[in-house]
Amino acid sequence: MSQNFKLAPSILSADFSDLQSVLQICNEGGAHWIHVDVMDNQFVPNLTIGPPVVKSLRPKTQKFMDVHMMVIDPEKLVESFAKAGADNITFHIEATDDPNSIIDLIKSCGCKVGVSLKPKTPLSDIYDIIDKVDMVLIMSVEPGFGGQGYLPSSNDRISELKQYLTDNDHNHVLIEVDGGIKLHNAKEVIDAGADILVAGSEVFKADDPVQTIKDFYSLAGK
Ligand code: DX5
Ligand code: ZN
Repeated sequence: MSQNFKLAPSILSADFSDLQSVLQICNEGGAHWIHVDVMDNQFVPNLTIGPPVVKSLRPKTQKFMDVHMMVIDPEKLVESFAKAGADNITFHIEATDDPNSIIDLIKSCGCKVGVSLKPKTPLSDIYDIIDKVDMVLIMSVEPGFGGQGYLPSSNDRISELKQYLTDNDHNHVLIEVDGGIKLHNAKEVIDAGADILVAGSEVFKADDPVQTIKDFYSLAGK
């Protein structure tokens, strides 16, 4: 089991009227990353955050800002998110016919690159580009909303991807897992091979979000 996993609290489940406190919670809890869910009401049936919000957050945190674009035509938003201060930009493989161009564009903007797959998308759909990305984001719920249940089939997908990365000497590619991650199932997700866990509702709907972040990290040692 990786002792070095990172937690990326998703601000989707936080109080949007007080994002400064959200950053403070992430700081006090010791979260490594901040996960920003971008939804366009086309790729997914929900509408959320755009570049201006990332731009407002940027001067108020040193943390790695992890932008998860659940949008059609992702190439149209890459430069805006990069200029706003994103550290990583993840696009969905289902949203493009030309992943190589998007990867090149994200890199040219100076950001790390992630590629994400919905739960029913075969892992093999990304195998021809996997050596060009920094991270693969495995969706463990259908993208669109926080607070859904973790799909148990995700563990096999994570393990299979981990094995593929090992077998093909791509161990530098990180595995991020997003959706339904709670304190009670985090360890099995890490054991399956995840390097980064996204957690939204478990952190921000908790009575004590700071302690919840700390509890995630203490799980890694158990
Ligand atoms: C879902 C988003 C997730 C979401 C996770 O489409 O990509 O990042 O915020 O929320 P929880 O942890 O509540 O499932
Ligand atoms: Zn996400």
